[in-house]
Order: sequence, then structure tokens, then C-alpha cells
Amino acid sequence: MCRVDEVMSREHDKYDKVVELAKRRGFFWPSFEIYGGVAGFYDLGPLGTLLKSNIIRLWREFFITRHMDMVVEIETPVITPEVVFEASGHLHHFTDPIVECTSCRRKFRADQLIEEALNVKVEGRSAEELTRMIRENNVRCPFCGSDLGEVRVFNLLFQTFIGPYTQNKAYLRPEAAQGMFTSFKRVHKVMREKLPLGIAQIGRVARNEISPRQGMVRLREFTIMEVEFFFDPEEPGEPPLSRFGGNLRILTADAKVRGEEGPETYGVEEAVQEGIIKNKWLAYWMAVARDFIKALGVPENHMYFEEKLPHERAHYATQTFDQLVRISRWGWIEVSGHAYRGDYDLQGHMRYSGQDLTVFKKFEKPVTRKVEKVFVNKVVIGKLFKEKSAEVLKLLESVDTDLIKEALSKGESYIEIKGFKVPASAVEVRVIEEKVVGRKFIPHVVEPSFGAERLVLMVLDHAYTEEEERVVLKVPHHIAPIKLAVFPLVAKEPLVSIAKELFSKALAEGIPAIYDDSGSIGRRYARADEVGVPYAVTVDYQTPEDKTVTIRERDTRAQVRVGLSEVVSRIKELVHA
Ligand code: GLY
Repeated sequence: MCRVDEVMSREHDKYDKVVELAKRRGFFWPSFEIYGGVAGFYDLGPLGTLLKSNIIRLWREFFITRHMDMVVEIETPVITPEVVFEASGHLHHFTDPIVECTSCRRKFRADQLIEEALNVKVEGRSAEELTRMIRENNVRCPFCGSDLGEVRVFNLLFQTFIGPYTQNKAYLRPEAAQGMFTSFKRVHKVMREKLPLGIAQIGRVARNEISPRQGMVRLREFTIMEVEFFFDPEEPGEPPLSRFGGNLRILTADAKVRGEEGPETYGVEEAVQEGIIKNKWLAYWMAVARDFIKALGVPENHMYFEEKLPHERAHYATQTFDQLVRISRWGWIEVSGHAYRGDYDLQGHMRYSGQDLTVFKKFEKPVTRKVEKVFVNKVVIGKLFKEKSAEVLKLLESVDTDLIKEALSKGESYIEIKGFKVPASAVEVRVIEEKVVGRKFIPHVVEPSFGAERLVLMVLDHAYTEEEERVVLKVPHHIAPIKLAVFPLVAKEPLVSIAKELFSKALAEGIPAIYDDSGSIGRRYARADEVGVPYAVTVDYQTPEDKTVTIRERDTRAQVRVGLSEVVSRIKELVHA
């Protein structure tokens, strides 16, 4: 076997072992297994739900609690009326290319099919281009070898109806973000109209992927953790970038175009100063994301940020970085997305809802400004347009003064505006002084967004180790699903009673713990190690005599003897350290 094959086979091997462990010990397994399973749906088992909730707790700590001066959390519905996704652009743009076999009628993601058949990258190509590539390169159905049809676009929104009316179309949200945009005005008010303002949400989303194939990496339903961070584009404030040490590893779009594949290293402030990250707040949240992923047990050299090329970006973004982490079998996977959404979403919702979602910022002192204003001879307009004159006056007041000036400078006798012919002699543009007390604008938004289940897989993959015939899940202690295992050395009295009492005390103190007295002590340590329990307390023959027990640490296997009365508080200290 050549070296690359060897590494790949080891990685596949490791991945298979992680998945086997996940199923056997209850982290995750395919949903609806008794019916054969459905791709893209996974259940989390008892340990998986604990691990996921610890990951979510840590995310809350990094993205919300540590930023409570500017980030708040809300919860909005999964089922969302159609108009919201018209406004957000998802109805038109949230699509993947699909192609059907003309003979067996199987459907495939056209871009993936072409990439696999021709070994080229085609992300972002149009349906027409993909059809042409299929025809020119004779790409055929991978199942039956027949011709493929035309490539179409397939919308990934899951559709439903609200109530008994089929005209009340709705969709399951594919991102939590739209709930934050539609509620922006209200949250902004609740938060005393301060900017910057982050609105966070953790909740279920659904995406009707055409053919998800990467297990827990690509799900049709998952938990998203997102912050929409709103700021004034003219006065964005100063994110404390200098707070972050270390670097960001970034593969820029320019470097990708040059054919480079690996990231360069930049200081957080340097990345902004050099214009690599176009917005300071985007850089800020990327640095938080780096530290969050590190806290989940991923070393920095196993992660980097990849800037998306324009055709790779979502429809709402003007700059996007994916945070990639290397895992076995699938290689570099996206664990978070960092998008500069500008005012795209609020603009859309203003257009479709007719509501004013702008923010008004009062100046410290009113300023006097010279402004151009249109003056109209109302008597002439009244006589000429009668009952329509109010409408004409409104149009003249709102029209761009440059258009009127241009018409007047050309000496035209009429100014035509929305079908009304207004005599030029009745209109004049004058410069006047105006007192301005503030500024109205649409906030801009940067968004960090994470999928929780992918992080569960990422954590397990990074934690999985094999040492001297034993499997140890080296999950960072602070996210380990179970913190403590309590064992009597042998299943005999008084050891069992002492151990059970200790176990109850640990649970009463809020320490997630297990009790195990079956099999040899070695087997019990092994069972606890493979699900990542960081500490095991053993009640042995010495315990009834001197009231001490041993605490064993998972990774080092080092043991210390501790007084029985202090062991629970000691474990508490250790797991919160
Ligand atoms: N809001 C991020 C995403 O849709 O992936």
C-alpha cells in the first residue's frame, strides 16, 4: 500500500470505530433504523444528548454569556410563512442542482456527480453549464449507466401548510437567522435601541438535501446555533480584537484562485488591517469561533478558515469564511460559517412587509446642513391635477433632486414623473439650511453559525484514541457527558453500600455520574474510558478502615487517595477546573 492509501485506510478505520462506538454506547445512530433508516436523519442517544447539551452550554458561554452587554438570546418558530422566505431570497436561491436518470429515474445532486466523474470543482455553476458538462463528457447514471436528463434546480426548503388552508404555504426554516431579522425591531427596542446588538438563537432547522451521504456531517434536520450581530456600518464601534492572542489560519479567496490549498497565518488585527477580513466584527466572531472550537478539543493545526469565492457564497453574503476542521474519513469539514450579510435581509423584509426596519441614531448635537429641496407652485399643480394633485405633490417631494435639476437645465417645458406631466415653470430646486437631529440607517449584520450535531461528531473523532489495547475518549473534561464513575473494588459489602452512598451524593450535588459494580475493575475502567468519563472513584478494602478512596484520572491513569468526606467536593472542583 502506498502512504496515502495507508493513511486513508487508517482514517476510514478510525471513523468506522468512532461510529461503531457511538452506536454501541449510545452517542448517535441512524434514525428510524427499524424501518431501514432514512438518509440525513440521526438520533442522539443518552450520551449523545448529554454531550450535545454540554457543547451548546459552552457555545452559550462563548457567544452569549461572555457578551451579555451586547448579545441576547431569543426563540422563534421553526414553521415560517412563505412570505418570509420570499423576502429572504431562500425561495429563489436556496437550491442545489438536481439531475435524473432517464431510465432508472434515480435523482442525483448534479454537481457532486460531475465532480466525482470528472474530478473537477463545479460549485456555483449554473444548471445549463452543468447540463453541458454532462453532455460533453458523457457523464452517465452511476447506477444503470443510462443517459441523464437536463439539470434542474431543486429548492431545499421543506414545505408545509399552516392550518387547513393549502394557500397558507409555509416552510420549515433552513436557518434560525430569519427569526432574528423579523424580530429585530422589537428586540432592538427591548434592548433600549442600542447598537451593536447581537441576537442569538439555538434551535432546530431542516434542509431537504437531495442525497445526503456523509452520515452525521450532512443532516436534513439539525440544531443550529447562530448570532445575527447588528451594527451601524458608518460607526461600527471597536471590537476588542487585541483581546485575542494567537493567530487565525486563513485560506483567502485570492490564494485559492492562485491554486494554493493551504492556509496562511495572520494575527487577528493584522487580518483586518490587511483587508483580508473585510469587517472588524466578522474578525471578532471568527476569533471567538477559533477559541470555542479549541475548547472542544481541536488543536489549531486541525482547523482553518476558508474564504468562499463569490460563486460559492450564499445569496445574502458579501464575504464568507467557513471554519474547517479535519476529521477522519471526510477530511476537512465545515463546522461554522461566518458571513457578512450586510443589510440584505433587513432590506428584503422592509420591502415585503412594508415596515420600517431602519434605526434612528440621534446626533450628540443637532447639525445644520445645506440640503437641496424641491419647491412647487401648489396653485398651478392644484389647477392642473385637481383630485390627483396631492399624489403629484408627494411624488415631487420624494423624487431625486438631481433628476429635476437635469430636466430644468435642459430647458424642458415639462417634467414627466410617473405619467404626470408637470410644467417645469411650477418647480424649482433651492438650497436651504436644515437642522438635522440624527441619522436613519439599516444596520449591517455579520453572522457566526454552527451546526451542533456536526460538533458532536467532531468532538468524538478528535477525542477517540487507542492506547495499549484500550480505547480512551479524551473529551475535554468540561464537556464530558459523564464526569464521574463510582466503583466498589468488588461487589461485596460494605464496599457496595459505601460506593452507592457516594454515588447518590455525587448526583445530589449535580455531578453527572455512573455506578458500576459488574465485572473486573479493569473492565469497568475500560468501559468508563471509552465514553470519556474523566474521573473514577474506587471504594476498596482500605476504605472502611481509613475512610479514603482512590480518584483515577482518565488520560494519565494517575491515582490519588482522598478522604471519603471530601471526594465529592474534590471532583466538583476538578470537573469545573
Ligand atoms: N445562517 C447560516 C446558514 O444558513 O447556513
